[in-house]
Amino acid sequence: MKTISDIKELRQQISTWRQQGFTISFVPTMGNLHAGHISLVTAAHKHADKVVASIFVNPMQFGVNEDIENYPRTMESDQQKLTAAGTDLLFTPTPEIIYPKGLDKQSYVEVPNVSDGYCGESRPGHFRGVSTVVCKLFNLVQPDVACFGLKDYQQVQVIQTMVEDLSMPIKIIPVATVRETSGLALSSRNGYLTEEELKIAPALSQNIQWLAKQVATNNDFIGLAKQAASFIDNAGMKTDYIHICHARTLQPASEDDKEIVILAAAHCGKARLIDNQQVSL
Ligand code: PAF
Repeated sequence: MKTISDIKELRQQISTWRQQGFTISFVPTMGNLHAGHISLVTAAHKHADKVVASIFVNPMQFGVNEDIENYPRTMESDQQKLTAAGTDLLFTPTPEIIYPKGLDKQSYVEVPNVSDGYCGESRPGHFRGVSTVVCKLFNLVQPDVACFGLKDYQQVQVIQTMVEDLSMPIKIIPVATVRETSGLALSSRNGYLTEEELKIAPALSQNIQWLAKQVATNNDFIGLAKQAASFIDNAGMKTDYIHICHARTLQPASEDDKEIVILAAAHCGKARLIDNQQVSL
């Protein structure tokens, strides 16, 4: 696997592949890779000839109270994992390469509505940072398809909306969440959990599953979500939010909606965990 940080070199490689008639799929990441990321690379292989991954810890999507300095950086083991998964090219730009004028002077992409609630409310500016960097990475890599994990369900909807609204010729492939046998969704943030917290954390996915069963026969969505939040809190976590939403618009679900999603976030010790479940009624 070739690793490139320079934009000119990246563009040269992409254009060589294009001249040779290859299609390209893209897996953007912030590194600290686990089996969930590798499942994105596996999916990417199914959709195109060449797979490009990126590792960039994007300062624009971190809030003022979020500790970007201590975000785990594990480049060597990430490179080994990506190589083993058959990645063709890894792009590893620096913040100076992506934001040469600094964050204050950087143009940005804002995706309204789907970015607003849930994680968008708890992490102001987060989705503006995500959509801006993904737009920029799309312009650099110019992939045919790009793979994103469904654990970050709201992020997938933000990117899908951006691609549609701005007519980007890129197919977004949502990839199923990879879980521990306990049900806990794989996440870089699980690394912050103590042994004791690791036993508590599966309560998030368990209560989402409970809610997914309840909504089939009970349309008091607000009451049910409140109950699930108290179960999560009683298990020793602190619910940030849990909502039953329309699967595409992410607006609060109405009883007529057929495709819904349960979105949830909860604090477990130092970690803020998110998870979700789609339900077809
Ligand atoms: O999901 C992530 O790791 C990031 O939000 C992404 C999509 C790589 C943008 O920085």
